[in-house]
Amino acid sequence: MGNGREFFDKIASQWDSTRAVDSKKIDELVEMIGLEPGFSVLDAGSGTGVLLPFIKKSIGSAGKIAAVDFSANMLAKAEEKYGSLGGITFAVADIMEFVPENGVFDAVLCFNFFPHIKEKQRFMTHMRSQLRKGGFLVIMHDISRQQVNAIHEDSKAVKNDRLAPGETVSRWLTTAGYQVTQIIDDEDRYFVKAVKS
Ligand SMILES: C[S@@+](CC[C@H](N)C(=O)[O-])C[C@H]1O[C@@H](n2cnc3c(N)ncnc32)[C@H](O)[C@@H]1O
Repeated sequence: MGNGREFFDKIASQWDSTRAVDSKKIDELVEMIGLEPGFSVLDAGSGTGVLLPFIKKSIGSAGKIAAVDFSANMLAKAEEKYGSLGGITFAVADIMEFVPENGVFDAVLCFNFFPHIKEKQRFMTHMRSQLRKGGFLVIMHDISRQQVNAIHEDSKAVKNDRLAPGETVSRWLTTAGYQVTQIIDDEDRYFVKAVKS
């Protein structure tokens, strides 16, 4: 199974033409997160920045976003498309090493990203240290868990990157010191929200 970063670098140029964006569904997911104007948000595994305009709409011009991805090619697309929105920092980094230069986040969002994390418990702990007290981590997908796993099953590079049931992820989050406030794991989306208590 090659290096995940190389895989995403290779597919970056086709990502936006192969990835269907259902704006209404993403709007609904972002609405559920509960972002507020002025929030500082980490978009973990930002890719080509699909989520960025949706976050920006919620947090407004006073808000700040850190778009982090270890694939330089994916993130270059994001910056090309949304750099002009303002208030977004683009950082090519492994999320496991990423520490913001100033302060902590109000929210960490993992959109179609969490299955690619190898050390899930360490990731949750690391992200918790980047959140303010009362801040939250959201793990979400705009397709079902079954669809995510079927897509990954078909790809040699991400074959083992599985999305666990919401209840299982919720237990991991509780162990890592979060309070889980919402779990949706149904036939067309996946959404787990956990607060740093
Ligand atoms: C399936 S794509 C999703 C991109 C975007 N969030 C979306 O929904 O279109 C997953 C992204 O996570 C990035 N990624 C995977 N593991 C990472 C890691 N350890 N650190 C930073 N980025 C990572 C990949 O480069 C890729 O761009």
